[in-house]
Amino acid sequence: MTKIVIQKKIENFNKVINLDSDKSLSIRSLLISSQSFGMCKIKNLSKSGDILSTIKGLKKLGIKIKFKNNICYVYGNGLNGFDYKKNISIDAGNSGTFARLILGLLVKSPHEIKLIGDNSLSKRDFLRIITPLEEFGASFKKNKKNGLPIKITGSEFLKPINYLEKKGSAQCKSSVIFAGLNAPGKTIIKAKKSRDHTELFLKYLKLPITIKKKKKFDIIEVYGEKQFKCFNYVVPGDISSSAFFIVLTLLSKNSRLKIKNVNINPSRTGFLTIINRMGGKIKLMNKRNLCGELVADIVVKSQKKFKSINCPVSLNSNAIDEFLVIFLLAARASGISNFRKLEELDKKESPRLQLASKILNKMGVKVRLGKGSIKIFGNPDLRIKKRIIINNYRKDHRIFMTSVIASLCFGGKWTIEDLESHKSSFPSFLEIIGKIGYKF
Ligand code: S3P
Repeated sequence: MTKIVIQKKIENFNKVINLDSDKSLSIRSLLISSQSFGMCKIKNLSKSGDILSTIKGLKKLGIKIKFKNNICYVYGNGLNGFDYKKNISIDAGNSGTFARLILGLLVKSPHEIKLIGDNSLSKRDFLRIITPLEEFGASFKKNKKNGLPIKITGSEFLKPINYLEKKGSAQCKSSVIFAGLNAPGKTIIKAKKSRDHTELFLKYLKLPITIKKKKKFDIIEVYGEKQFKCFNYVVPGDISSSAFFIVLTLLSKNSRLKIKNVNINPSRTGFLTIINRMGGKIKLMNKRNLCGELVADIVVKSQKKFKSINCPVSLNSNAIDEFLVIFLLAARASGISNFRKLEELDKKESPRLQLASKILNKMGVKVRLGKGSIKIFGNPDLRIKKRIIINNYRKDHRIFMTSVIASLCFGGKWTIEDLESHKSSFPSFLEIIGKIGYKF
């Protein structure tokens, strides 16, 4: 078991950095390329563990994928053009996004396919995907606990569905959109607001999809069985990865950071709104459009004071991957911050709400954990002097990275186990911390 020991805070820095590429968009670009006809070119694909699992899985399904310089070439065989041996098993590793989205593309596959994952992924809920995909006509052999492994067999006689997505889960929504691409006629989705990368991607490719934005829901209509040609795509930097460095800069002394080329899709920037309401100032510069997505450079400076927040529930889905680092800001804020209706946070790679409360406790921060909610009693003078050990966290990449940021901002003597965990989304994380001046 590998671990990292951090015994001192980071010193002031003033740097310009680039991050690893966006995980959600990298996975979508590979999956959508695999359904096109011809050779797609994807630039700046992330090299994280979840993307490697996606590539391996697609290769098993008969998709040729090659790399040359910083370009990934995907040779699509058209919709439902997978070509694979009988009795294959696809290992999604740690990736919930790949596991759930690929099922949507397998609703028409003629032979049974087994889907497996690592320890953490196997414990996650797949019923949320199985239910709508069964309605399309696919069949499943389920696991008693609704996790992995499961087996899927597609159907030749699919029918489009009307689907209500109530959790604010982009994975559920996207899986159903992908299944809808294979079904004849019109699939209609009423989806609680969540990241809209899949919709924007298909729009960018001019596929028949319409999106009507309502206040709380989006109405999405997809027309299936429309083949499409290969395309070129460029993946921007990952906003979720930027969150770690934004909070690191805000909480450090006399520092400034420019993070270049980050995706700022409004359905992902909930945490920027939260930080802003807590009094944090962040600038978005050089805004531009890249393959249908908004991109900008982010500039952030250290700050001394933060306000507590009663976090609006409407921001939950748009900030879902960033709550762990937001909790660090709440720990330094003056007053009590309140976060509610976050049940989904306990359904991620680890039970994040529960683990966050334990870690904050170890840091000497008073918290009150409720059902899907957490109150954090902020302390503007928070300084840690003691030993803290972070272990048994299901190798959740975001728990690892949040713990590293906490140690660099608040001090103390931290031992954080399972160092490899961060590689599932952000392999350059420690290297970038090194670049901004920290010597491990
Ligand atoms: C993702 C959606 C979110 C997020 C995950 C990536 C995606 O999950 O937590 O890291 O790429 O669609 P849910 O859809 O389960 O909320």
